[in-house]
Amino acid sequence: MTAPRKIIIDTDPGQDDAVAILLALASPEALEVLGITCVAGNVPLALTAKNARIVCELAGRPEVPVYAGCDAPLARKLVTAEHVHGKTGLDGIDLPEPRMPLQKQHAVDFLIDTLRAEPAGTVTLVPIGPLTNIATAFARAPDIVGRVAGIVLMGGAYFEVGNITPAAEFNIHVDPEAAQAVFAAGVPLTVMPLDVTHKALTTRPRVEAFRALPGRVGPAVAAWTDFFERFDKEKYGSDGAPLHDPCTIAWLLRPDLFTGRRINVEIETEGRFTLGMTVADWWRVSGRPENAFFVGDIDAEGFYALLTERLARL
Ligand code: RIB
Ligand code: CA
Repeated sequence: MTAPRKIIIDTDPGQDDAVAILLALASPEALEVLGITCVAGNVPLALTAKNARIVCELAGRPEVPVYAGCDAPLARKLVTAEHVHGKTGLDGIDLPEPRMPLQKQHAVDFLIDTLRAEPAGTVTLVPIGPLTNIATAFARAPDIVGRVAGIVLMGGAYFEVGNITPAAEFNIHVDPEAAQAVFAAGVPLTVMPLDVTHKALTTRPRVEAFRALPGRVGPAVAAWTDFFERFDKEKYGSDGAPLHDPCTIAWLLRPDLFTGRRINVEIETEGRFTLGMTVADWWRVSGRPENAFFVGDIDAEGFYALLTERLARL
């Protein structure tokens, strides 16, 4: 029996972030969540730090340490996404105010201290929001970069193009300079872009399977989905919404559900119309070094079966 993989989830909850956190906490035999670091993104930092604690308490895991991190991108004004996630960031169901405390330590200091304290190569970072905290930690403590086992992030897009601008996906667009630093850091990088998350839609049968689960978690996830899918259905005319962030955790649990290729991915930080675009060299025409495993496809049925089975555990 191998020891669970140690992870730190860096997040901007967001209903899909919430489902990613629940999936991780429902899989203790495979994943040890050392902490949850919050960043400004979908909604401002005060709300992401509150929402992460709401989710931990919903999962019955109030002992998981939650840290507040950066409240704005490295070099730009914060762009938020209340139009998708609602004013609270977790619209769709009213859950109790969190009683568990927010950790006093800044999320960036937690990232640095933990990566220095844990044996090198044993901690995986799972950023599912803008990459500000990760880039700040790498800049402040370059010695930790070589100690990171890997980064599995939700962000970017290539064939699927952008969701916040015609060219850019939200997490990368909010802080392109941070993304550029992370993609150039040389850490083993797995990228879950819109190309794959848009193939994992919350169809009605899948949402009703959540709602039918015993306990509070399944119905809460169904209520969140009912809320946030209205944006994607209206915009794309799709049969449901993409559950973006849980794809990162699912990859850690069942990489066989995904396919992709190691390629070069660069971040556009100067484009007039393309700021935050992930320039993914899928056809390897640039000759630039491969720096990321860029995921392109998913077994959606398998993903939802895993997610439903795990949520039923909480
Ligand atoms: O573009 C999708 C990403 O932006 C997801 O992480 C979602 O939570 C938002 O942060
Ligand atoms: Ca997110």
